[in-house]
Amino acid sequence: MARARQPVVDRQASITWFRNTRERTGRLFDLLSPAAYFEQPIPLRHPVVFYEGHIPAFSVNTLIKRGLGRPGVDAGLEALFARGIDPEDGDAADESAIASWPGREAVRRYAAEADRTILDALEHADIERDGHPVLHRGQAVFTLIEHEELHQETLAYMWHRLPSALKRRPRDAEVVPEGAAPVVDRVRIPAGRATLGAGRDEIPFGWDNEFPTLVVDVPAFAVDRHNVTNQAFLEFVEAGGYTDRRWWSEADWAWRESAGVRHPPFWVRGADAWWWRGMFERVPLPPAWPVYVTHAEAAAYARWKGGRLPTEAEFHRAAYGAPDGGERSYPWGEGPPDATRGHFGFRGWDPVPVGSFPDGASAWGVHDLVGNGWEWTSTVFDGFPGFAPMASYPEYSADFFDGLHYVIKGASPVTATGLVRRSLRNWFRPHYPFVYAGFRCVEDAPR
Ligand code: AVJ
Ligand code: FE
Repeated sequence: MARARQPVVDRQASITWFRNTRERTGRLFDLLSPAAYFEQPIPLRHPVVFYEGHIPAFSVNTLIKRGLGRPGVDAGLEALFARGIDPEDGDAADESAIASWPGREAVRRYAAEADRTILDALEHADIERDGHPVLHRGQAVFTLIEHEELHQETLAYMWHRLPSALKRRPRDAEVVPEGAAPVVDRVRIPAGRATLGAGRDEIPFGWDNEFPTLVVDVPAFAVDRHNVTNQAFLEFVEAGGYTDRRWWSEADWAWRESAGVRHPPFWVRGADAWWWRGMFERVPLPPAWPVYVTHAEAAAYARWKGGRLPTEAEFHRAAYGAPDGGERSYPWGEGPPDATRGHFGFRGWDPVPVGSFPDGASAWGVHDLVGNGWEWTSTVFDGFPGFAPMASYPEYSADFFDGLHYVIKGASPVTATGLVRRSLRNWFRPHYPFVYAGFRCVEDAPR
């Protein structure tokens, strides 16, 4: 007989985590003027209203219905708000659909009732049950809260596209575009082992695509010490990189041509200078900030430089490997992901100069691997051998094992600290221009 297991979910801690997460989501919605409520900041994503309903509806669907087997709060709204769409093939841009969304009062009433229902369950229900597909190790509780944290980042990058007239700038949102870009420098990483993913009982919670572990032998390579900065990327732009077919794959070139892309998505071309489109204001292009680009632009730059993007395993080696052959939990070691380790956890709405967190550098002295922007890899998103869809959200990853998405690793300024763990994997299509994702280059044969 199996020994009695220590519970994974601490009720009081989960209640606090849930409340704090709901409050942050509320503050995110407060950044918008009411006029923005039916806007679609990203044409192929749903309008703002959807997200205010989707987050609580998902929580009810996951814990209350799927987990506890109880009725939900409002079956109609829980169907309407059940799922978002994958940009590029959804029909969210259908104008006629917009009129059919409920009004804000109705959505807020629903959300308040859903919150009460979730809190009551967190307080009183049997939320962790050994062997139960959805409640084993408290899976549904983690799923609903981390789902909301993931969507906080979605909200931030959606809000980023809205004109400032539709936003209310918080008092503490000063942007300081200071700092000089560092000297470009590559660090040699010797051949060694990288452990991707995690063992099923090794961490309190992970999404299905994080399991099981996958051990990869990684040959020696060299990696940029810092992310590619706006200043470095400007050289590519000025060298005509966007109009030189040689640096682009066939699909990327076709996309670039048809979308008319001539510069990174967060840049704005002025009369005689480049600007950065910040969350709340436009600032002169900060040379030392990481450039945020699509996978296509990152790959083109890397090819122009005579390098390439790292694989997911190479990212792990650079971030978590150590000269003694060991592997760390975080680039900096075993300490918690606090404010000294990197630019993540909603401490700002825009990037900071690369290399601002020396205490977050990896064992090899590589900077900002976690924070200041996700990092594109050349790895096509897929399950590790032994992958099994999670019962609390079976479509979460499996729907995207289609060869059309690439793994991004690390964290952005608006990635919740709770999501900062080695095994976390994120993914997007190679031409999706909205995410806070940059890159660094690698080469196989160190010079
Ligand atoms: C994992 C960030 C790609 O935003 O589409 C939220 C997260 N999935 N609700 C996304 C997600 C379902 C997902 N990413
Ligand atoms: Fe969602």
